[in-house]
Amino acid sequence: MDELLTDRLLLRAFRPGDWPEVHAYASDREVVRFMDWGPNSIEATRHHVNRSVAMARVSPRLVFPYAVERLADRRVIGATELSMTSLDHRRAEMGYVFAREAWGQGYATEAAGALLGYAMDKLDLHRVGATCDPDNTGSARVLQKIGMVPEGRLHAYYLIRGEWRDRLMFAAVRD
Ligand SMILES: CC(C)(COP(=O)(O)OP(=O)(O)OC[C@H]1O[C@@H](n2cnc3c(N)ncnc32)[C@H](O)[C@@H]1OP(=O)(O)O)[C@@H](O)C(=O)NCCC(=O)NCCS
Repeated sequence: MDELLTDRLLLRAFRPGDWPEVHAYASDREVVRFMDWGPNSIEATRHHVNRSVAMARVSPRLVFPYAVERLADRRVIGATELSMTSLDHRRAEMGYVFAREAWGQGYATEAAGALLGYAMDKLDLHRVGATCDPDNTGSARVLQKIGMVPEGRLHAYYLIRGEWRDRLMFAAVRD
C-alpha cells in the first residue's frame, strides 16, 4: 500500500500500536452516530486495527485501509478506506471517520481528496462511490467538495443500532 502525503497529513498503513488513538474516536458515540458499528469496546477496536493491518497485507490490491496521521503531532486522528467493488469494472467505494477534536479543520476533505486522487490517477479506477446518511450534512459536503456528485438515495440500506436508515449515494466517474 503506497503512503499518501498531503500538506498536513500522512495516510499510511495501520500498525497494531495505533489502537489507543483509534479507540479515542471509535468509542465516541457522537463520532459513530451514522456508522453501522460502535461505539467500540477496547476489544472491538483492537480487533478492527489488527484486521486492517492484516487486510492490507493479505489483499493489497483489494482493500486500502489508511490510518490518517496528523504531521503536526504524529497522532492518528482518523481513518479512510478504499475497497474495490469490481476489478473488471475498475470501481471502488470509500469512506472515512475522524476524531471529534479534528472536525471542522478540513482534514476529511484533505484526506478523502488525496485518496480519491490516488484511486483515479495511480490505481486507474474508473469510478469511486461513497454513501452517507441523509442527516450527515458534514459528510455529504466533504464528498461534494472532493468532486463527487449525488446519484440518488438508497432506501432502508443500513441497519444502525436497530434503525433502518437510508443512504445518499455519491460518485466520481472518470471523464
Ligand atoms: C463527517 C466528517 C468526516 C467531516 O470531517 P471534517 O474534517 O470536519 O470535514 P471538513 O473540515 O473537511 O469539512 C468539509 C465541509 O463540511 C462542512 N461540515 C463539516 N462538518 C459539518 C457539520 N457537522 N455540519 C455541517 N457542515 C459540516 C464544513 O463546513 C466544510 O464545508 P465548507 O468548506 O463549505 O465550510 C467528520 O465529522 C466525521 O468523522 N464524522 C463522524 C464519522 C462519519 O460520519 N463519517 C462519514 C461516514 S459517511
